[in-house]
Amino acid sequence: MTADIFRLGLPLMRMLPPELAHTLTVKALGSGFLPLPPHAPVHQALEVSLWGHRFSNPIGIAAGFDKNAEAYAAMLQLGFGFVEVGTVTPKPQSGNPKPRVFRLPNDQAVINRLGFNGKGMHCVADNLYGRNHCAGIVGVNIGKNKTTVDAVKDYKKAAAHVGGLADYVVINVSSPNTPGLRDLQNTDSITTLVRCVREALPNKAIPVLVKIAPDLDTEGLDGVLQGCLDAQVDGIVVSNTTIARPQALRSLNAKEPGGLSGAPLFALSTEMLHRVYLRTHGLVPLIGVGGISNGHDAYAKIRAGASLVQLYTALIYHGPALLQRINRELIAHLLEDGFTSITQAVGADHR
Ligand SMILES: Cc1cc2nc3c(=O)[nH]c(=O)nc-3n(C[C@H](O)[C@H](O)[C@H](O)COP(=O)(O)O)c2cc1C
Repeated sequence: MTADIFRLGLPLMRMLPPELAHTLTVKALGSGFLPLPPHAPVHQALEVSLWGHRFSNPIGIAAGFDKNAEAYAAMLQLGFGFVEVGTVTPKPQSGNPKPRVFRLPNDQAVINRLGFNGKGMHCVADNLYGRNHCAGIVGVNIGKNKTTVDAVKDYKKAAAHVGGLADYVVINVSSPNTPGLRDLQNTDSITTLVRCVREALPNKAIPVLVKIAPDLDTEGLDGVLQGCLDAQVDGIVVSNTTIARPQALRSLNAKEPGGLSGAPLFALSTEMLHRVYLRTHGLVPLIGVGGISNGHDAYAKIRAGASLVQLYTALIYHGPALLQRINRELIAHLLEDGFTSITQAVGADHR
């Protein structure tokens, strides 16, 4: 019954403008009106223990889907191993003018230039307050308001206000749609941000991660990683959307400005993941994200060095049934390679 609703709903949703389809989906998921299936049993081999938490499976929903923490409980119920809400900014803001989300159906991709539209940290805190931590793992991704000059202040405010309600906090310095944000990807800014966010958190045990762009050149990446290592970051999310436009794109909307996600991002973000894993000597836990649409893609990220993975765009094209398929395919890949757990496969390409 539930699977039918989603299967039938998907083509209907695709007839609507993408942002409206997304808003309605989040509303429906958050309202409790949709009959969601009970947790499907997950194979023990997929469990991941990290930062003192047990993830039932390594597949998370990436930041941007549930910007205001309105649908995280439903996403956990659908079987995601974890949910990253946000990006959350201190003040509410409307983001860039519409239209600002574009489907690229021939490329299984999306371009967005939303610009951190969101209801702000007070609303997100209200939505997270009182959540049952045992029911699933929720990370909060934080950013700065568009007009804020002192970026560090905004990250501190957001961390202080919502960080304590999260299982991990991600410092997002890699969205291409907030002017100047990506300039924070340098050694000094990263070190300062990680230290200040840590200090602002009410509970010092909450892991602090940094989410990076896939467009950094070698020097830029070295700078960011130096900052991450200096500040002893707890993890790195690799990666956000790209401003690059691979030549092979075939869809009408390919030239729209903004961040490109989905299948065409897979190679670039996975290459970045390999580089980050090697340069951090496998010592920093990594979340691999970018273009995952099947178990093979997820497994490639894990073998490249990711302890956990996330997806977003593929969900738009395939619906939530994708999740169980990825989990099944992941188990097959693990067994094929003689591994009994995800953890054994992390970074396997580098051994
Ligand atoms: C519509 C949309 C909105 C997004 N918003 C955010 C955001 O607010 N913060 C963030 O860190 N990443 C955001 N992302 C990036 C995703 O979290 C993810 O890094 C990227 O889409 C690559 O994964 P995918 O190819 O599986 O979609 C957004 C992506 C999309 C498609």
